Amino acid sequence: MMNAMPKITAAFFLVCLTTLHARAQNARIKIDLDRTVGEIDKNIYGNFAEHLGRCIYGGIYDTLSPLSDKLGFRKDVMAAVKELKPSIIRYPGGNFVSNYNWLDGVGPKGERIPRLELAWYTLEPNTFGTNEFVAYCKMINAAPYFSVNMGTGTIEEARRWVEYCNVKEGPFYAELRKKHGFPEPHNIKYWSLGNEMDGTWQMGHMNAEDYVKKAREAAKLMVRTSPEIKLIAAGSSNYREGADPDHWNTTILNGLKDVIDYIALHIYVGNPDSNYYNFVSTPLVLEQRTKIVKGMIDLVMQTANRPNRDPIYIAWDEYNVWYRARRGAAAQGRNALEEKYNLEDALVIAGFLNAIVRNADIVKMANMAQLVNVIAPIFTNEKGLFKQTIFYPLQLFANNVAGTSLDVFVDCKKYNTNKFFLGLGETTTQQTGVPYLDVSATYKDGEVMLCVVNRHKDEAITTDIVSQNGSFTGNFEVYEVNGPDIKSRNDFGKTAVQTAQKPPLKASGNTITYSFPPHSFTFIKGKMLR
Ligand code: AHR
Repeated sequence: MMNAMPKITAAFFLVCLTTLHARAQNARIKIDLDRTVGEIDKNIYGNFAEHLGRCIYGGIYDTLSPLSDKLGFRKDVMAAVKELKPSIIRYPGGNFVSNYNWLDGVGPKGERIPRLELAWYTLEPNTFGTNEFVAYCKMINAAPYFSVNMGTGTIEEARRWVEYCNVKEGPFYAELRKKHGFPEPHNIKYWSLGNEMDGTWQMGHMNAEDYVKKAREAAKLMVRTSPEIKLIAAGSSNYREGADPDHWNTTILNGLKDVIDYIALHIYVGNPDSNYYNFVSTPLVLEQRTKIVKGMIDLVMQTANRPNRDPIYIAWDEYNVWYRARRGAAAQGRNALEEKYNLEDALVIAGFLNAIVRNADIVKMANMAQLVNVIAPIFTNEKGLFKQTIFYPLQLFANNVAGTSLDVFVDCKKYNTNKFFLGLGETTTQQTGVPYLDVSATYKDGEVMLCVVNRHKDEAITTDIVSQNGSFTGNFEVYEVNGPDIKSRNDFGKTAVQTAQKPPLKASGNTITYSFPPHSFTFIKGKMLR
């Protein structure tokens, strides 16, 4: 009996040590309902439809297709679009808008004039325009967001478009809308002052100082015509060698700080060298740029004259993976920009959305570029469509992630990248301390939502999810976007990557332990009591 005691004690300590060791190895995600970032704006689940390739014609709209309704909208496409729940859709471009006259796209179809379109080298038939787009947005319950032509267009042209859309009656363009069959104004709330005016590729490209002069005057005319509108300035999109995005952003923020509501930023990333770990770190660049521009906004807000208005917010109104169909024939004409996405692209999209949610205090709009066929989550042919890999993370976020963004703590292994190109023709970057787990957490109506990308290509990461001031309860729903291989992609009749519902997690107390599979995106949702 005297000898048995030390043996039991030793065994007990061994068990404790092993448990502790196993626990110490687990990654940790800590959430604290008191440590918040900000409220998520539903407009972060926006999208973008440009007159480009088969996005509008042959995607959204196809009057000759048996799959279309009587207005010419592809019904199968509309059903898939609705699954993404886009809150807001930007239109009509993109580069397209900088040589577009909105008047060409309104009025009786038989009288509409085809135009040579210089951004993407096509003939624009103009059979789809303002009123068709507004009708589409109504049917899918999205807010239309228009971009005016700050390239070849004049500030008066921009003002007339606002009058056509938003003034009830009286002046010529309001009456013109009525004559076209729309007695009530469209009340378009969001208007951007041009597109990517910092890019040398833009029709009517200008320097930051000239852009400020033109955009400021356009804003004056547009707001006097319709005082309730929200204006978005064209921030940096050009990160190519020799460009100076910081100069562009500081100059336009300074020059437009009293008149704009958002600054638009654009980001496209790619994986031309097929380096998985470099590529999946790229959402951190969006986050770094967000923080840099946030600092610039904070600075100019100190001298801004904008009584009773929100601060200036960031609109990432173009973001996506785009590098395969970016040059030469693949970037022109009817089949321009038909990028086919794989699993690693879906992980990057989940990473972008995580970064946007983590910065919910400043990022109040985001638009995946684009909606159908053109660097898009939905891909059609004349017989049907398939959902690309990037469809699934966007769908999970847009349908579930809302409420308050939490300042989540993550403790896991990290890696460094070497120096690599972000996308074709873009600046190089090098990332240190990239966490294998990329996480965002939100809280709404007593439920906590966790979005986790496991960037590790080969290893599952067992993780303790710890609540610091509340207890988990009940069954947690778990969904996973994954596929057999990081290069797996979908196609017509083949779905290799999609969302799978996993067995629910039984939760109680303040810790849930979960093993995130390699190269996966996991969404977990359940009740948390304070
Ligand atoms: O989304 C494709 C193009 O990318 C847009 O037309 C332009 O704004 C950007 O360069």
